Amino acid sequence: MNNLMRRAQNVQLWRKYCVKQYTTEAASASLSRGKPNYDEFIGGRQVQAQRSIVVQVSSEKSYSELYNYCSRFGSIVGAHHYCVRHDDDLHYILLEYSTVNEASAAIDSGAANGDLSGVPVRSPFLWFKAAPGRRGPKLAANTNNNNNSQLPLSDLLSVDGTRQLDQASLLSQLRGAAGIEQQVQLLHEHTQLNDLGVRMRFLAALQVQQAISGMFPAAQAHPFGSSVNGFGRMGCDLDLILRFDGETGLRKESDGEPPSRLIYHTKENLSNGRSQTQRHMECFGDMLHLFLPGVCHVRRILQARVPIIKYHHEHLNLEVDLSMSNLSGFYMSELLYMFGEIDPRVRPLTFSIRRWAQACGLTNPSPGRWISNFSLTCLVMYFLQQLRQPILPTIGALVKAAEAKDVRVTEDGINCTFGRDLERVGFQSRNTSSLSELLLQFFEFYSQFDFHNRAISLNEGRQLAKPDHSAMYIVNPLEQLLNVSKNVSLEECERLRIEVRNAAWILESEVENSTLPESERQDEAWGLLNLFKHPEKAVIRPNMFFKPRMVEVSDLFEEQQQQSTTGPASDGGATA
Ligand code: CTP
Ligand code: MG
Repeated sequence: MNNLMRRAQNVQLWRKYCVKQYTTEAASASLSRGKPNYDEFIGGRQVQAQRSIVVQVSSEKSYSELYNYCSRFGSIVGAHHYCVRHDDDLHYILLEYSTVNEASAAIDSGAANGDLSGVPVRSPFLWFKAAPGRRGPKLAANTNNNNNSQLPLSDLLSVDGTRQLDQASLLSQLRGAAGIEQQVQLLHEHTQLNDLGVRMRFLAALQVQQAISGMFPAAQAHPFGSSVNGFGRMGCDLDLILRFDGETGLRKESDGEPPSRLIYHTKENLSNGRSQTQRHMECFGDMLHLFLPGVCHVRRILQARVPIIKYHHEHLNLEVDLSMSNLSGFYMSELLYMFGEIDPRVRPLTFSIRRWAQACGLTNPSPGRWISNFSLTCLVMYFLQQLRQPILPTIGALVKAAEAKDVRVTEDGINCTFGRDLERVGFQSRNTSSLSELLLQFFEFYSQFDFHNRAISLNEGRQLAKPDHSAMYIVNPLEQLLNVSKNVSLEECERLRIEVRNAAWILESEVENSTLPESERQDEAWGLLNLFKHPEKAVIRPNMFFKPRMVEVSDLFEEQQQQSTTGPASDGGATA
């Protein structure tokens, strides 16, 4: 079979996956059932975004007036207020309608802003203008009291839904916990991405998709990464993949009619796949930058292994990384989602470890020679697989449980097939360790790990001989010739070993102090808090091994160019 045929076949498989349509009812049902699988979760959230609009208002007090005005388009089933904090707070209300058509009707009713220049763009992001004859930002709020007969139920509105617990309150909560176990749970509870955060991220994806759907009816923008894999914390970035091989908006084969004989003409692709993707992304970057409401600070990082467009969304206060060619990253998010679902200890434990790594400056929001959150998460998953009583199955075991409906092969031929049905996978852990025991075991395990000679395989759940001289080697579970932690320098790997030793030592002494009377516990940092006590390290700190530096975008270009000329086995992350 030649390459072209194989590619066409893979595109067909991806399409089959994409055409899986979700009705509003099915989506709501799957969300309310409690434990949706990944497809149901993604599909449900996508439909929820289609039923929603985001309206900028003068304050949350505009809610009654907005509700009354917007109810003319349909029945409003939820409302979420949030603030984007600048010099002045900007207020927004996300309204959820009961159907997609109702939300569309509200968007279609939108008018151009006659006072301002700029091309009007159809998008779910709107602005609630003061009623004619009224002026000033306060008016909408004042009319509130006059709004009488049909005041909506106030519990329909959640206020300031993206406000995070400030650092001092979080620490005080952790100090007041009953034990390390509860500290780990509380940290997870208070810092994980909340429902509104997920809604906002799916709206950002929908905005991109809708903006280009006129010209590209098959376009689909899928969120992936920490926004959807269950390991995201409040404020995490949105990773987005834009695809043109789905069939949204096109007639579906499943409609029961024979395939159309009228085929869209397309432009012939003359250049190779990578440079074509780069050109397309350049063009989309310009389009987002010039036309899309809320999109600002657009940066193109097109020389990276996975070319991306980065931008900030000012109505959502959100950083977005848009790619067009990272389908394995999308399926990797599904694997992590499943791992998080398998055992309730997985996510809280990972949150504590990620927070610890951030506190000692092992991780950093910008990509560089340090370990990424994703690599760190892989370390946690592997630790949970290799326990004498494993808490997670190997990926190999998931692959064995795959059925025909689980087959996924990307258009580049990367096989992302694994069993998606957890019941069929049938993994049951007999491990009864508490979260505090697991935390200590994690640090002890990696203080002993031979990073120098051994590589980590989540596919097999065991160590392998290291195939090259990278300081840290984690086999990319879906692209097994690549190393997820290729970017980690020797100094950073050494620093990780030192910090895990410190952490193990701190936690061991915590166990000895666990008999401290409760009154003393309230005043002192104890347990998990002692792991986060690195105020001087919260930013990257120099240490005896090396002088860290922030990686400039231009450095990344150079590195990526070097990597692309020195062979394929480089996988320093989606952006690095
Ligand atoms: N990914 C991957 N291989 C890599 C890097 C990333 O498959 N070498 C995929 C993973 O699914 C990851 C996603 O791309 O979750 C997004 O990468 P990134 O934004 O770096 O990590 P997140 O998991 O989103 O974590 P963070 O909250 O730090 O953004
Ligand atoms: Mg991310």
